Amino acid sequence: MLKSASLLALLSLVPAFVNAAQPLYAQCGGIGWSGDTSCVSGAVCTKLNDYYFQCLAGSAPSTSPPATSLPPTSVPPTPTTTGTNPTGTTTPVAGNPFTGYTIWLTPYYADEVKAAAGLISDATQKAKALKVADIPTFTWFDVVAKAPTLGTYLADASAKGKASGQKYLVQIVVYDLPDRDCAALASNGEFSIANDGLNKYYNYIDQLVAQIKKYPDVRVVAVIEPDSLANLVTNLNVAKCSGAQAAYKTGTIYALKQLNAVGVYMYLDAGHAGWLGWSANLSPAAQLYSQLYKDAGSPPFVRGLATNVANYNALTASSPDPITQGNSNYDEIHYINALAPALTSGGFPAHFIVDQGRSGVQNIRQEWGDWCNVKGAGFGARPTLNTGSSLIDAIVWIKPGGECDGTSNTSSPRYDAHCGLSDAAPNAPEAGTWFQAYFETLVKNANPAL
Ligand SMILES: *[C@@H]1O[C@H](CO)[C@@H](O)[C@H](O)[C@H]1NC(C)=O
Repeated sequence: MLKSASLLALLSLVPAFVNAAQPLYAQCGGIGWSGDTSCVSGAVCTKLNDYYFQCLAGSAPSTSPPATSLPPTSVPPTPTTTGTNPTGTTTPVAGNPFTGYTIWLTPYYADEVKAAAGLISDATQKAKALKVADIPTFTWFDVVAKAPTLGTYLADASAKGKASGQKYLVQIVVYDLPDRDCAALASNGEFSIANDGLNKYYNYIDQLVAQIKKYPDVRVVAVIEPDSLANLVTNLNVAKCSGAQAAYKTGTIYALKQLNAVGVYMYLDAGHAGWLGWSANLSPAAQLYSQLYKDAGSPPFVRGLATNVANYNALTASSPDPITQGNSNYDEIHYINALAPALTSGGFPAHFIVDQGRSGVQNIRQEWGDWCNVKGAGFGARPTLNTGSSLIDAIVWIKPGGECDGTSNTSSPRYDAHCGLSDAAPNAPEAGTWFQAYFETLVKNANPAL
């Protein structure tokens, strides 16, 4: 009774909002969306995936072409990129690519955070939440429709650099392989191998490269394809992963070569301690990374590996979490120290960046493999080059905290059972969309405190 009464009360409020266009970055469509599908002036409702349309700045092409437009042509042939990298040489700097650079703050995430802080009534928590807008995170290019925004971001970083005399660095995640997320469901991508996905992926990489070429004064650091190669180390028993193996390798090699040609410093994703850090997985992992690197022609801008992306492990745990079940590599520093020698002997550059964005609170999971919106997590160590290890270039925030890992809606086609576990936060929206309650917990539990 109470439920339907409050629903009626809510419905009676709806007409007041019907004509309000959605603000920049707000959702404006997708399966299950019943809100406004128009955007404020200057923003265009852009399809990111079937479940999420978002108001993005500028005049992005409409996803439904006008009736008078020509029929779509096939994917254009992939150009061979022969561009020079930002320094005009094929030689990366020696040492840590972050050194001497100011990390550019993404306005996309800052706006999400500011909007979220606006919904917090407690003044102390609101002030803490607002501080997150000033902490650099990576920007995920998880659909090709977002590629033009990279140009917008690089232009802004370039302008800020020229105005301040500082050198700017933009942090991106390359994340659009066909048959993506082959061992889970929550982050299934837009391209499928069966539907020409590899060619579409080449086009996605080409679009990123075209933007990067235009701003040679801005340094770009990229994390390459979270989870993909780690899935090839341990999940070839999953049909979708074994089916994707060749496309993942070919696609990754293409990405490494093309991004190398424009001087992007790259860290390949390497899972985390609880995945590739088991002793049986270390050597196969090192072999895969080394072989792929060689197959790509040993691109000099490949700097190393990224670990713990979007995960919750500590860099240095005060004691092993019981869920680590006797793995001697129970945190990221032990994993990195164990993996590095095998990489080095395979000829792979053993440098690392480590995501600590949501690692502030430890011993909150029921199993180490639990990855979805883990309850009780808090923002972790702030990004820094003072990492305490010569193997680690930087502690970074790669997963933008507050963006959802996956929906808890059991009826959704992208529902993954991990997102319905008792240690996963309930009422979670689709992956990548804003999860306000979760963000508020990350703020409250931040360690160090915000
Ligand atoms: C759950 O997903 C189904 C299928 O997409 C959808 O129809 C339904 O509205 C969703 N429920 C909620 C609460 O979002």
